[in-house]
Amino acid sequence: MKHLIMTCLMAATLVVTAMAQVPRADYRVVPLPDVINGIKSADFKLTDQCLINYPTGNRDMERNASMLSGYIEDLTGIHLSTRPTLASKDRTGNISLFLDPKIGNGEAYNIVVTPRGVEISASTPAGIFYGIQVLRKSLPVGAFPVVILPAAQVAGSPRFGYRGMHLDCVRHFFGVETVKRYLDIMALHGMNRLHWHLTDDQGWRVEIKKYPRLTEVGGWRNGTTLGHNSPVNDGIRYGGYFTQDEIRDIVRYAADRYITIIPEIDMPGHMVAALTAYPELGCTGGPYEVWGMWGVHDDILCVGKDHTIQFVKDVLDEVIQLFPSDYIHIGGDESPRVRWQDCPRCQQRIKDVGIHAEGKKSAEALLQGWFTTQIQQYLVEKGKRIIGWDELLGCEVDTSATIMSWRGAEPGAQGALQGHDVIMTPVGPLYFDYYQTDKTWNEPTAFGGCNTLKMVYDFEPVTDMLPADKRQHILGAQANLWTEYVTCEPQIQYQVLPRMAALAELLWLQPEDKDYQDFKARLPHLVEIYKHYNWTYRAKSLIQENEDKAQD
Ligand code: ACM
Ligand code: ZN
Repeated sequence: MKHLIMTCLMAATLVVTAMAQVPRADYRVVPLPDVINGIKSADFKLTDQCLINYPTGNRDMERNASMLSGYIEDLTGIHLSTRPTLASKDRTGNISLFLDPKIGNGEAYNIVVTPRGVEISASTPAGIFYGIQVLRKSLPVGAFPVVILPAAQVAGSPRFGYRGMHLDCVRHFFGVETVKRYLDIMALHGMNRLHWHLTDDQGWRVEIKKYPRLTEVGGWRNGTTLGHNSPVNDGIRYGGYFTQDEIRDIVRYAADRYITIIPEIDMPGHMVAALTAYPELGCTGGPYEVWGMWGVHDDILCVGKDHTIQFVKDVLDEVIQLFPSDYIHIGGDESPRVRWQDCPRCQQRIKDVGIHAEGKKSAEALLQGWFTTQIQQYLVEKGKRIIGWDELLGCEVDTSATIMSWRGAEPGAQGALQGHDVIMTPVGPLYFDYYQTDKTWNEPTAFGGCNTLKMVYDFEPVTDMLPADKRQHILGAQANLWTEYVTCEPQIQYQVLPRMAALAELLWLQPEDKDYQDFKARLPHLVEIYKHYNWTYRAKSLIQENEDKAQD
């Protein structure tokens, strides 16, 4: 008898130990789903016997299925084959992806896990992709024969339709693989817009067939200032650009991850690289030199010349062929108008189009408005819309222009009051080129400032400056990564991780569902995934946030 009891006890201990060792998924990921309802039943066992079903003949769903298979294998070592299916009958024992038009928001997902199988449904393939990301992030990281998926319903829907990250590939140039990895990082976080800064004073980074000197000449500078605009220049020729084939490849890669790339061709300022290539585009005629310093340059496009307007239209003709995005970003920031004041052609244009200074708006500010309107109308004829930086609000631009609010949230609020759509990207706290702490001595050189993880998390895009009937103009928010001081890919990743996680959560969750301490408790598992992919991140943001800034 004693022997029997001992045997039973030992067997029970073995079962318990074996159960304890089977790793379990945890659906409390970042961003947190809106619903996690446990279902009282046995759990689902994920093994290499499971298949991933997707609707026959649907290429997007086929790609979704193979991405899910890749993610599961990456994180757990379990290989699942994918299989096209015609009906729901093959769901037992498998993961099934299917479209359900009853789910309202196209980006919303619904996951149901029972012992019989896992179903991920959404009304569009994009929603399925977000469900896949949630399942992916819930998985334990390691090499396992079996993973337990607890029985549950898990559902979510993003608060904002515009969930953006920006990347400056001008101040420092990063090639195709780095941009693709940036898109991978965005996909993991449920972000859906990449604002790609491709032209500026320090380089022109997009091949334009009609104007080859833009990249041949404008793609290269003779050296780069050391530090924060010190008088010392490294004297090293620096540059590079994306060919149109590379751009098409990146755009496709992004689209496969439900990310739209919005290119920015900044105008009429931040154009010294183009002026160096084609000096006749400037007011003085040059010579110009691709800039090796950071900041705002006085030389901008001469909009008194018809030739300049034609140049911009020609460039945009090629840009819109490359980027299917509805939006084209035409910059408009930091455009000093000193050259226009002294330029007979620009002054003649002011007369010809009947511009008169109005109150605080100089004739030259209104000339920028006139120029922007020409370009806006041109793009509208081609079926596109423009985004511009908030300086456009001072130039009387039509309200169909969407405003990117960077000099704080107030310009965005003003824009929304006037009837513009707005994307919030205020320097504080959404400039990710800023430090993540006020204790900067151990940090990689950054622009300056301090935007901690918590400051990002606490940001509210819909400012209470706005009355209820204007709030729908806030389309979402975006973090910007300018790269004056970011020279390599690990530094890109360090600047954005884990702050992108905080941004993602504020863009997906309703404000009342946000909880910073809870977010911090969920973050370490996301970081396990960063580690798995060898992405660089700021580890101190996880463990020492209290040292980052007093108000944390
Ligand atoms: C900007 O940071 N100049 C938009
Ligand atoms: Zn001029």
